[in-house]
Amino acid sequence: MIDETFTAEDVATYYDDWNERYEAVFGDVFQHLKASDHDELLDHVIEVAGISDGESVLDASCGVCGPARHIARRRDVAVTAITVSPVQVERARELVTLDGLAHRVTVRLGDFHHLAQVVEPASHDVAYFLESLVHAHDPELALRSVFEVLKPGGRVCIKDFYRGRSSEPAEQRVIDECVEATNRICHLTIRNTEDMLRWVAEAGFDIEVSQPLAVPMYSIEDGHEFCRRYDLDVAAGRDFTTTFYLDNLEILARKPA
Ligand SMILES: C[S@@+](CC[C@H](N)C(=O)[O-])C[C@H]1O[C@@H](n2cnc3c(N)ncnc32)[C@H](O)[C@@H]1O
Repeated sequence: MIDETFTAEDVATYYDDWNERYEAVFGDVFQHLKASDHDELLDHVIEVAGISDGESVLDASCGVCGPARHIARRRDVAVTAITVSPVQVERARELVTLDGLAHRVTVRLGDFHHLAQVVEPASHDVAYFLESLVHAHDPELALRSVFEVLKPGGRVCIKDFYRGRSSEPAEQRVIDECVEATNRICHLTIRNTEDMLRWVAEAGFDIEVSQPLAVPMYSIEDGHEFCRRYDLDVAAGRDFTTTFYLDNLEILARKPA
């Protein structure tokens, strides 16, 4: 039941306009569902994705490079970091330079539906999407696109949130209303977990991990503060701190060798 999607251009304009407000609340990791601190979350991503020294890493939706800078500090890797927002490209480059990481992190403007326009086919060992495929107007195209730019045997890590499910029709109606409101306000197209897993497999990947974010302690406080501060009615008139309507999943999948 998807009524509307947002084009990559819509999403770029949204982040150009809202980047400063995101940074004011989220710091440099723009994720709703986190571990209790950013380091713990991003170390967990490194572990799930199995990122090792010497690898070429693609951040397919980098925000202002909080995750890419963290990974480049923890591992001796070459990261290509892509965002569709020109404002974020500038800000990400500034932060990468300030951190002295320009030798490890390269920031480029691009659309994750068309990654081969930005990086070479079969060029990366590992790619990741952190709360970003939820913006895709065509996730199947985005998955085929990342498949193309990974080396044989390369991995993709996808951490995202999805439409909650209830066997009670009244509860499902509440979930659906909240999802529609959140989509509209945050320029998202929230999908179902089963669809995403099927699309990952149909793109050619072998799924190795599929589980709710496996960190010891969740935090969604930044997301709540974001909605409070900017008066965002993401739960369609309900209290967004006590209305639960999203599932989450981290997926690790491998391109066959
Ligand atoms: C919620 S933010 C997450 C940013 C980053 N992954 C992080 O954890 O801080 C979503 C990001 O996805 C990027 N994005 C959305 N659609 C995109 C597209 N079609 N191509 C590339 N980046 C995209 C946005 O520009 C933004 O940087």
